[in-house]
Amino acid sequence: MCGIVGYVGREEAVPVLLQGLYKLEYRGYDSAGVATVQPDGIRIIKTKGRIKNLDDKIQQEGGLQGTCGIGHTRWATHGAPSDVNAHPHQSQNGRIAVVHNGIIENFLDLRHALEADGYQMRSQTDTEVVSHLLEKNDTGDGVQTLLATVKQLRGSYALAILSADRPQELLCTRRDNPLIIGVGQGENMIASDIPAIIAKTKQYIVLDDNEVARVTADEVQVFDAQGQPVQKEIQTVNWDISSAEKGGYDHFMIKEIMEQPKAVRDTVSPRIENGLPRLDDAQLTDEMFHELRNIHIVACGSALHAGLVGREVIERFARVPVSASVASEFRYRNPIIGKEDLCIVISQSGETADTLAAMREAKKKGARTIAIVNVVSSSAAREADSVLYTWAGPEIAVATTKAYSAQLAALYLIAIKAGLARGTLTEEQARNYCQQILALPDQITEALRTRPQIEHLASLYHNRQSVFFIGRGVDYAATQEASLKLKEISYIHSEAYAAGELKHGTISLIEEGTLVVAMANDPDLYEKTLSNVKSVKARGASVIMVTDQDVEADPEICDFVVKVPTCDPALSASLSIVPMQLFSYYMGLFRGCDIDKPRNLAKSVTVE
Ligand code: F6R
Repeated sequence: MCGIVGYVGREEAVPVLLQGLYKLEYRGYDSAGVATVQPDGIRIIKTKGRIKNLDDKIQQEGGLQGTCGIGHTRWATHGAPSDVNAHPHQSQNGRIAVVHNGIIENFLDLRHALEADGYQMRSQTDTEVVSHLLEKNDTGDGVQTLLATVKQLRGSYALAILSADRPQELLCTRRDNPLIIGVGQGENMIASDIPAIIAKTKQYIVLDDNEVARVTADEVQVFDAQGQPVQKEIQTVNWDISSAEKGGYDHFMIKEIMEQPKAVRDTVSPRIENGLPRLDDAQLTDEMFHELRNIHIVACGSALHAGLVGREVIERFARVPVSASVASEFRYRNPIIGKEDLCIVISQSGETADTLAAMREAKKKGARTIAIVNVVSSSAAREADSVLYTWAGPEIAVATTKAYSAQLAALYLIAIKAGLARGTLTEEQARNYCQQILALPDQITEALRTRPQIEHLASLYHNRQSVFFIGRGVDYAATQEASLKLKEISYIHSEAYAAGELKHGTISLIEEGTLVVAMANDPDLYEKTLSNVKSVKARGASVIMVTDQDVEADPEICDFVVKVPTCDPALSASLSIVPMQLFSYYMGLFRGCDIDKPRNLAKSVTVE
């Protein structure tokens, strides 16, 4: 959601900025822009639409020179997507340009005050007020000016600033939005995320909330909110740029679906030692699980869906009550949570605003917090009491696939560890589950072999208006993810229902040809689900069954069977979700959708 890039060095800035912006496309955006300092001041080129449009516009306008510049991809919050609302925004005298990610909550008050002082707004954005405030507060020292300015801001932001008066210097700061500084040789960068800098450098500094940095070609200086210098650790990216590129696939989504065996293996195998889980990196001790009263899982979207599976599995293995809540609801619910509770937050990006706020709420109430996170050093990773990284690698497609699978794997490990510690699993049972988890990557590979069948099914069904997913227990939790995937990628209306709940109302929507996908992977619940399936089939539904059972398509039950490998029913979501991810992919493809960047969506949702 919005992307920031800045460059200062000895090369022309614009090609580096554009390359960086392309790498941030996955975050979702509706307009883009760049600014550089030229001998006669700051020049900005920006436009609504894709980065390619921006690239073309820069060419048409004769290029944009300069070795210091900032760039931005905007995802509209205040003001419609348009050329004028695109970033960068310039101060009244044109000497300062700003790009911003986040929301300035008090921007209307600031705007009115600035207008009373004679400043004229050109856009409807909250960001523009920051550029005018910087001009108004300018003391001649960039860092001091920025520190004074952010004191007037309420809300969340990552800001990168260019000044014509200091043509070889970038300033930046952040609060509740990610920002890193890429550290190079004779050149430095600012960015929202690592893919934007990795072509230039693998060394980076993570800026913390309220810190301000002055970045020149040869130096990075970081200051705290009081203006005192801060020593920052330089970190090194441990993956290659090819991991963030398509590698021969048509879309990042299909590449990432195919990468799932590796994502699960990398997440699990370092954490199983002598056949049992070892979660030292997450500081999860037996004592902690002993004393546990409740577990609260909080997350958004697919991460929450992983949490719904986690709830089922942890309750089964560890016999401790688990709730799984939508983070945006949890944070405002005054949740009942205390010192004896564990709060597990799940997030691919580690930057989701609602998830972070929910975690802070749990912390404030004394609960211990653990973050299951994919992005190293992200806000959730740094703020939680401990972190269990999913090692899925960079996920670029907006719709998550491999991170979801890695999240499931991490939750299984927690469930086994908790079960062992609480004495609700014997060592033998725990070893058996660990063995099954270690076998999952190969079984996911097998599940991926349904790809041609799924492509065929999508060719048959991509014109349907509405799709229902049904299942029970873990299957029900997995259908919720299957349904979300289909909605976001193919724009087909879909709903996930507990199979037994259908008859309490929703079955009235089933008519001739309605597509119902039924998941049935738990032998104990299989017969029950089957009767629900028969009831929709009898009303004319077309039915696809996703199951590990040995069944054939049968006119009374289903039109197609998608067979997935067998594992313990507690772990089955890891396998049944795979053909459903493929289904969403191909449904979207047949419908001509923008697979990696679905409309209205952003990869990292850093606003409420
Ligand atoms: C759906 C999807 C979203 C995210 C949600 C949370 O495919 O990706 O629903 O799961 O926005 O994002 P993270 O995991 O970054 O907190």
